Amino acid sequence: MTKHEVDFNYFSQEDLLSAGCFDMPEILDVVEKALLAFEGGSIMFPDKIVQIFDQGTQERINCLPATMLDDKICGMKWVSVFPENPRKYDLQNLSAIFVLSEIEHGFPVAVMDGTLASNMRVGAVGAVAARYLAREASETIGFIGAGEQAKMHLLAMKVARPSLKQCRVSALTAVEEKEFIDQLAPIVPDMQFIAANGNARTAMEDADILVTATSAQAPLLKAEWVKPGAFYSHVGGWEDEYAVVGQSDKIVCDDWETVTHRTQTLSRMYKEGLIGNHDLHANLHELVSGDKPGRESEQERIYFNAVGLSFLDVAIALTMYRRAKAAGAGQQLELQHEMIFEHRDIAERVRL
Ligand SMILES: NC(=O)c1ccc[n+]([C@@H]2O[C@H](COP(=O)([O-])OP(=O)(O)OC[C@H]3O[C@@H](n4cnc5c(N)ncnc54)[C@H](O)[C@@H]3O)[C@@H](O)[C@H]2O)c1
Repeated sequence: MTKHEVDFNYFSQEDLLSAGCFDMPEILDVVEKALLAFEGGSIMFPDKIVQIFDQGTQERINCLPATMLDDKICGMKWVSVFPENPRKYDLQNLSAIFVLSEIEHGFPVAVMDGTLASNMRVGAVGAVAARYLAREASETIGFIGAGEQAKMHLLAMKVARPSLKQCRVSALTAVEEKEFIDQLAPIVPDMQFIAANGNARTAMEDADILVTATSAQAPLLKAEWVKPGAFYSHVGGWEDEYAVVGQSDKIVCDDWETVTHRTQTLSRMYKEGLIGNHDLHANLHELVSGDKPGRESEQERIYFNAVGLSFLDVAIALTMYRRAKAAGAGQQLELQHEMIFEHRDIAERVRL
């Protein structure tokens, strides 16, 4: 190794899986710890950069940076969201890659798959919210949407509420509902699965926990289906009628300020003047730190909306990186062997 050699580790999704990184209880704990670190001021969290290529479909690639100051790691998630992919090409909607760098010298330490971490984060944040906001003895969970985020939500919710024993799912097509059940039933063998045949009401009515995770922009979830005591996790864009918000006893977000600038149901209502800052009960970190109470009665209807905090993605990626590296997974790759003008043949390589 030369003095100026720079190496980093590369981890594919398969490397991460083989190293045991699909560890949902661990990721829920990582999310809680990162939320507390955020509250304690030890996280740098600049605005994300968004490039939308089609306003109609919202096809986009976003760049989301964050720095974990205590860990001395700066990371970036480069994430693509192409909502037409599943229907048009039978490809996944979301794909992501991470770069992690140390901040002593500023060199990269890892380049890694980010789809696993990103999707686990979405589910884990909903499940951390459920820890504080869902009824302790929740047994039924209903889904509108059967895609990747819905699948992760079910696994994470089962960690937060092991009492869950029935899952009802509705999607645009019966094929998707079947795939959801076929893929998840072996992972959660004590769960009874019910395909709703595209009927959202069948999936959602009277469920203890409700999740909408769709690529739709429509009021799919009706207020009358949400029973007293229910916990609702809203994952996608506009997915529920305004009355769902109106009848909720508590509204909790991952970050209210960010939520108000987006396009999902709460954001729409905020921009239309139908709700204001006083309607927010808490941001999620305030529940984790105990500054604000979570659920206070068996009868409360509670609405949770997360739009994504990049430092949580980076915290999860960092945990996966450490675990995969310790397991000897992945590959060590050379970024540079020496500095540019140290190469002995540099004079032959330059064109002026
Ligand atoms: N909140 C966050 O932090 C976060 C993070 C990642 C993705 N998302 C969003 O979550 C949503 C789901 O993402 P995904 O990766 O699971 O997508 P996906 O394409 O894998 O799944 C989308 C699901 O929505 C269903 N759907 C679409 N229109 C519907 C309708 N009218 N009625 C019923 N079901 C309908 C589809 O059948 C499919 O099952 C997207 O809107 C995505 O942008 C949110």
